[in-house]
Amino acid sequence: MGKGSGLEFADLLAHKNIHQQNSLQVLFADGSFVLVKYLPTKGETTVIGLPESKDKRVFNNVLGAMGNTPLVKLERIGRDLPVPLYAKLEFMNPGGSVKDRVGAYIVEQAEKRGEIKPGGTIVEATSGNTGVGLAIAAALKGYKTIFVMPDKMSNEKILLLRAYGAKVVITPTAVGPDDPRSYYEVAKKFARETPNAILANQYHNPDNPKTHEISTGPELWEQTDGKLTDVIIGIGTGGTISGVGRYLKSKNPNIQIVGVDIEGSILTEIWQNKGVIPAGAYPKTYKVEGIGEDFLPGAMDITVVDAIERAGDRESFLWARQLVRQEGIFAGGSSGSAIAGAVKYCRKLPAGRIPVVILPDSGSRYLSKFYDDKWMREFGFLSMEFGETALADLLLAKPNKMLQTAALGDSIRKVVSVMHQNAVSQMPVVGADGSLVGLIEEVDLLNHMLERHEHNNDEKIDSLVQNAGAVFPPETPLEDAMPSLTSGYALIVVEHSKPIGILTKIDVLDYVAGKI
Ligand SMILES: Cc1ncc(COP(=O)(O)O)c(C=O)c1O
Repeated sequence: MGKGSGLEFADLLAHKNIHQQNSLQVLFADGSFVLVKYLPTKGETTVIGLPESKDKRVFNNVLGAMGNTPLVKLERIGRDLPVPLYAKLEFMNPGGSVKDRVGAYIVEQAEKRGEIKPGGTIVEATSGNTGVGLAIAAALKGYKTIFVMPDKMSNEKILLLRAYGAKVVITPTAVGPDDPRSYYEVAKKFARETPNAILANQYHNPDNPKTHEISTGPELWEQTDGKLTDVIIGIGTGGTISGVGRYLKSKNPNIQIVGVDIEGSILTEIWQNKGVIPAGAYPKTYKVEGIGEDFLPGAMDITVVDAIERAGDRESFLWARQLVRQEGIFAGGSSGSAIAGAVKYCRKLPAGRIPVVILPDSGSRYLSKFYDDKWMREFGFLSMEFGETALADLLLAKPNKMLQTAALGDSIRKVVSVMHQNAVSQMPVVGADGSLVGLIEEVDLLNHMLERHEHNNDEKIDSLVQNAGAVFPPETPLEDAMPSLTSGYALIVVEHSKPIGILTKIDVLDYVAGKI
């Protein structure tokens, strides 16, 4: 029979079901199974269909296809960082999010403990994704589902859960977690009042972090051959960061577990205050879905978190939109927050480290929200046309991409001649190691030449070098650099401290004119 089941044909034939039903499910130690059929006339067994195989990715149902998500290097977004940045694409789970794993495991464990009986109902307070995970397990196992969602969640998520056959109940967002109208309280009420129902309870159920301790964490360790040094994870229920953190710390306590919190949430303050909500910490509403809380969920183990980076709505959405344009990775708003946090964190890292950021869900759930320019403008996240164009893309569109730089110690004569030959009126100035030290401008050279003093051929530019007022990394959206441009600065684009390009008003005008 293979797979080390230890079963012989004779054992199969002796099995009482095979004579009654002509077929039998043979379960292997790793949880996979094959159907075998007994052919009484021929006296032999044959396997029906294909055997399950993790290597070939052949599964008997979609639960087997969960997990083992890819790890992908963010080549363009990470190019300005001192370290390579890898992303774990959790939206490649069959239900499109990291929560597939959680939904499936919670149902499996509830069955094992006998908490849910055939025909039962699974109830959950969910921002959508856990609902999908639970709905997949429920579809395969024949349970009904009721999901309670706050009203800020996208319409796509509501329609999606209904597509899985769930009953979806919408509650107001702007009420406290203990308010009877909150989605937590409404879910509890449904679970109490529906016969044979369980509350999946992702906020407090230890099976939520456990899922990641036994799957996501080990995958990260194996995919990086134990070489990862930092993991950056958005915090919602805290299930992912706690489970992944626990597993990785057990393998190597030096791995840094970095949370990403959204502005408006009070999880950062709770973490700083060792698990207690500090006086004066007030949650505010925010638009990113799936992360941030106004209380400490029981699933969250704050002791595994070494650092927290914060991200706001606008930067989260802009990063998510950059992610798909620059890397072809179509992910949700909390993935944008995770990238924002990862970039801030990785900028502080020394070379040689290997950080991984987790991207929890797919962009398809947010097409009518932050992927829609109209929506972005309505909420003030995008005020200009072309506002999100990265400076790197503007540089690529320049007809003459060659950057002219001057070096400290260059003679004025040489610099004037380079400016003249290349028809430029300013040049970034670099030090001996090629890193940016300032800017030299035509007007300063002219003023100097007109000064009444002895000029000689070897006069150096050093005393004329100005501070570069507008220095930006290549991924900066044009919208963020526009105030500098309109104040009269040329934008110097810098990668690893070295200038890679310069952008003036006319370059931006040229770019826009070429697009309309
Ligand atoms: C889109 C999204 N991102 C991130 C998270 C956070 O994951 P966790 O609840 O494991 O902290 C969730 C959780 O619901 C989510 O839906």
